[in-house]
Amino acid sequence: MSLDDFRHEAFDVLASTNAECLARARAGDHGLLWITAGRQTGGRGRRGRPWVSEPGNLYASLLLIDPAPVGDLPSLPLAIALAVHDAVRAVLPIDAPPLEVKWPNDVLIGRRKISGILLEGEPLADGRRALVIGIGINITAKPGETPYPVAALSDFGVSISPEELFARLFAAMAEVLELWNRGQGVGAVTARWRSVACGIGEKITVNLPDRSISGYFSGIDDKGMLMLDQGHSGILPIAAGDVFFEQIGPRDE
Ligand code: BTN
Repeated sequence: MSLDDFRHEAFDVLASTNAECLARARAGDHGLLWITAGRQTGGRGRRGRPWVSEPGNLYASLLLIDPAPVGDLPSLPLAIALAVHDAVRAVLPIDAPPLEVKWPNDVLIGRRKISGILLEGEPLADGRRALVIGIGINITAKPGETPYPVAALSDFGVSISPEELFARLFAAMAEVLELWNRGQGVGAVTARWRSVACGIGEKITVNLPDRSISGYFSGIDDKGMLMLDQGHSGILPIAAGDVFFEQIGPRDE
């Protein structure tokens, strides 16, 4: 997969770049299509939350069609986080706080979230499956009330346009998707993910749709599942959930 395999369409305003990608898929698009918008009027976040989308930040979605067998998809969010991490690392001053990834795909600077990633999938009428990777990166604006600390790149002295940051994301994503190799490269992806992981060994709480569980974050397994060490109860692999760190480090103060 090379850079030339990807297309890009840029809009000033859209309801949601994810929604636009899904509409293109329903209309027969064959995928590897990036859609970006200067702002969104109906930006979508995880768990049905809105994603406030003021001008100045990056709003981008990539449409994939039949990206991998379903069983190989769980490692894709980790690969996407690596692409965002690479794009941000290239523009962040070297004296900035640590740039890390919180499982599975939140990119943090100094433990504050600077990006959101929303994957949305849909079976198409012709039997294919659409998967949309939606990425928002806070460049100048950050949401007000969130259950986790947030930051924007400008907090760390970064001055960059959404277009320039997108160019870096476009290249980084092509490289990472090649490494991921339709899920066959899961070993390389998990190895690279571990090298930028935030909070391994720390006490965490994982919010699942129906309950919260606590334990120690002992890393990820070879498929990219979070391994929660629950002491006497053993290690519980977790496929999806929101992670919260319980021990606040000095970097957060
Ligand atoms: C999250 O809640 O952390 C995920 C937020 C994802 C936001 C991005 S912005 C571009 C794309 N279009 C959307 O409507 N949402 C995603």
